[in-house]
Amino acid sequence: MPIIAPSLLASNFLNLEQECKMLNESAADWFHLDVMDGHFVPNISFGFPVIEHLRKATTKPFDVHLMIEDPGQYTERFKKAGADRLTVHLEVCPNLHRNIQQIKSLGMKAGVAINPHSPVELLSDILDDLDQVLVMTVNPGYGGQEFIPHTFQKIRMLHKMKHERGLNLLIEVDGGVTLQNATALLHAGANVLVAGNTVFSSENPKATIETLKNLV
Ligand code: DX5
Ligand code: ZN
Repeated sequence: MPIIAPSLLASNFLNLEQECKMLNESAADWFHLDVMDGHFVPNISFGFPVIEHLRKATTKPFDVHLMIEDPGQYTERFKKAGADRLTVHLEVCPNLHRNIQQIKSLGMKAGVAINPHSPVELLSDILDDLDQVLVMTVNPGYGGQEFIPHTFQKIRMLHKMKHERGLNLLIEVDGGVTLQNATALLHAGANVLVAGNTVFSSENPKATIETLKNLV
């Protein structure tokens, strides 16, 4: 069964308490929290105070996706705010190995995200140290964008690398995941599905999460 991580970026910010309640009662495994800084990506989302408040409203793990420059500067603060899993972008981390060690030393699971244009081969020398790889299937910065089809082959290649090395790695797909493409993504090797608009714009978000959870 896939891990389902609804992205709160597409939720109703005016009623986050209600959204948390819905996710708590749903089959969702994680809360996916998208943090954007207006530098690495052309958008600004939310930061520590929001995450701290959300933390009080759920016991489900927080999967925090940092779309920010110099993420190492804030690792401890994200831990304190309530992050359980912290993912940084390959494109902004010249000392990626150090970032990953720092995340793990604070007791969080560590992930690396790659943009649609970044080859998976660039992860070759860090893969064994990771708990998860987040494959961006749209350009980061906004919810509700259309899935980029060529990212399929990246998921397949990552899956192959994972098996060749016998790694216990989670492969997370993020961006444009729908009820139409989710099964194919799982078959390609993904085991974590992030879904923003597919969940929150649907008539019955809880039922949509349940459907995603039961895909094979
Ligand atoms: C985009 C974010 C995604 C986004 C996904 O930069 O990383 O997590 O919220 O939204 P959908 O599922 O609507 O494409
Ligand atoms: Zn994300």
